[in-house]
Amino acid sequence: MMTSALPYANGQIHIGHVGGAYLPGDIRARFERMAGSDVVWVCGSDEHGAAITLRAKKDGVTPREIVDQYHHEMQEAFKGLDISFDHYSRTSSEKHHRVAQDFFLKLLDQGSFEVKTEAQFYDSEADQFLADRYITGTCPKCEAPGAYGDQCEKCGTALSPTDLIDPQSTLSGATPELKDTTLWYLPMGRHEGWLKSYIETGELNGGAHHDASAWKAHVTGQCRSWIDSGLQSRAMTRDLDWGVPVPVEGADGKVLYVWLDAPIGYITSTMEWAETSGQNWRDWWQSDDAELIHFIGKDNIVFHCLIFPILLKEHGDYILPTNVPANAFMNLEGDKISTSRNWAVWVNEFLAEFPGKSDELRYVLASIMPEQKDSEFTWADYRERVNNELADVLGNFVNRVLVLTRKYYDAVVPEIASQALTAEDQAVLATLESAPIKIADFIRRSRFRDALQEAMGVARLGNKYMTEQEPWKVFKTDAERTAMIMNTCIQVAGNCAVLLEPFLPQTAKKLQTAFGISNAAWEAVRPDMIAAGQKLGELPILFEKVDEETVAAQVSKLESARATASGARMDCEPLKETMTFEDFQKLDLRVGEVTACERVPKADKLLQLTIRTGLDERTVLSGIAEHFEPEEVVGRRVTLLANLAPRKIRGIESQGMVLMAETEDGALRFVTPEEGSSAGDVIR
Ligand code: MF3
Ligand code: ZN
Repeated sequence: MMTSALPYANGQIHIGHVGGAYLPGDIRARFERMAGSDVVWVCGSDEHGAAITLRAKKDGVTPREIVDQYHHEMQEAFKGLDISFDHYSRTSSEKHHRVAQDFFLKLLDQGSFEVKTEAQFYDSEADQFLADRYITGTCPKCEAPGAYGDQCEKCGTALSPTDLIDPQSTLSGATPELKDTTLWYLPMGRHEGWLKSYIETGELNGGAHHDASAWKAHVTGQCRSWIDSGLQSRAMTRDLDWGVPVPVEGADGKVLYVWLDAPIGYITSTMEWAETSGQNWRDWWQSDDAELIHFIGKDNIVFHCLIFPILLKEHGDYILPTNVPANAFMNLEGDKISTSRNWAVWVNEFLAEFPGKSDELRYVLASIMPEQKDSEFTWADYRERVNNELADVLGNFVNRVLVLTRKYYDAVVPEIASQALTAEDQAVLATLESAPIKIADFIRRSRFRDALQEAMGVARLGNKYMTEQEPWKVFKTDAERTAMIMNTCIQVAGNCAVLLEPFLPQTAKKLQTAFGISNAAWEAVRPDMIAAGQKLGELPILFEKVDEETVAAQVSKLESARATASGARMDCEPLKETMTFEDFQKLDLRVGEVTACERVPKADKLLQLTIRTGLDERTVLSGIAEHFEPEEVVGRRVTLLANLAPRKIRGIESQGMVLMAETEDGALRFVTPEEGSSAGDVIR
């Protein structure tokens, strides 16, 4: 059984999501299917929780509209990248609500929860209890501001709303009040003992459950530090109106905590899949010989390695996760990926701008997958990998193989006459022997980068072998040797057509067609998999090179998207040098009122203003004649810099300066003090 984290249906899928939880799942699932394993891989949209309701509020629409929109868009993204879930579900379905409620009730009946009625933070303006992302404050641990009611994103500490210093409602900004409510808690402290051995040694109920040494060190490490700092009880219900209703009499207005209902979504998704494919879902979740592997990002570790296992074990019928190969984060062009700052490569946007290039993106993301630590995507690196590796190595090699086979043998695979193998032939054939075993091993250990390196290594070796053996020269003198070289090259290409399928499904299909491979099972890859006498087909160009302009355009798109998101203007002047408060105090700014205005003879740009300042009435020249008629200016209140040294222009002494704002398109606007101020008011 394989799962990938149910993405929140509150935004689009970006490359960080793909590299974190979906591409590793897809590579593994495709490989397992090719290897003939019984594998089911499910996912779905996570449609509850504050992520959704806050987004809906921000957009002024209902949560239902939000989840419907993104459920649809996320599926498009997955489809476009050939992410091959066996089933993709959603947690707002009636079926899921029932499954989650039954699960909750079983635990409730057997006393797995503690019910407490206590004072909780409440926003009376918004008429809502505040938990999770509805409340922020200063982290009690690291003192970072903006920690959420459930977690400080800065230091990762798990929090309760009442832990926060200076709590604030994210709905109204108000300081929350306290009000009594009833919550169902999961007393996690009760479970520390068995969790510790489950994580550290892979033992459960006195027997071996899984191979703990196969877990990633950063995953085990994070779990260990959670357990060592003591597991606090966590509320499993929320006072909200969007979510799975708490199935208890008198619990109106209460829903299950999203992190209780969402992982149960994996089970619902499996049930739906089983129903349509005539299978029994229990074989995957409740059978001792089943494995359960969760593909997630590192921010989800505690929920999958501690909380969900507690829930599964308490329920009693389920197996527990046998591995949780969490990935770290992928950064983008030197900065953290951020949805709110629009600093991301969105999958749907990529697919629209680079049609037919899904394998290219998969290739780059698999090459830089953040398996052990954070990694970084840059467009320059994307270009280099596509051009130097996909196009120059893989594309070039298979193309040369096909062109020469067509030229020498009319596209028919040549027979090898019995002759001694050279050391180079042997090295290539030995690699074809060992590569599938190594790749399989890497994939099963979630070392996808190494697996891809190994598979590309086969193409690289073939390319090198061909270049060194120079069949185009040998052909003139030695037909037998040429056949040997060409046959070997064809075998290498055929192997690549299968070995690369988990990573590059589209490319692999094209290669399999060209090399006449109908059975792309993992066990079909052999050093002599392509039979002599077989006719090879046509191959379209596999990879186009990416040019520098494309890279530059993508980088500048990112920059401008970010500028728009942060409210910055593209043409903004840089900030001037810092000045001291003393400097500022020298400015005498006041509200003035324009009592008269006329043009300055022979000066196209200047208007002469008479301004009442409260102290006096004075003359100020202003370069605004191209923007305003004198009669538009009379009667206005303006901001006047009153102590600017007087200057004579065209024989008229100007005693100050009127402040103007210049708009993006070069128009001028008066800086007008708000209604209620009058001539002589000091501005400070
Ligand atoms: N929606 C969560 C996130 O994006 C992941 C939920 S995983 C599940 O971080 F297990 F709860 F389904
Ligand atoms: Zn903190």
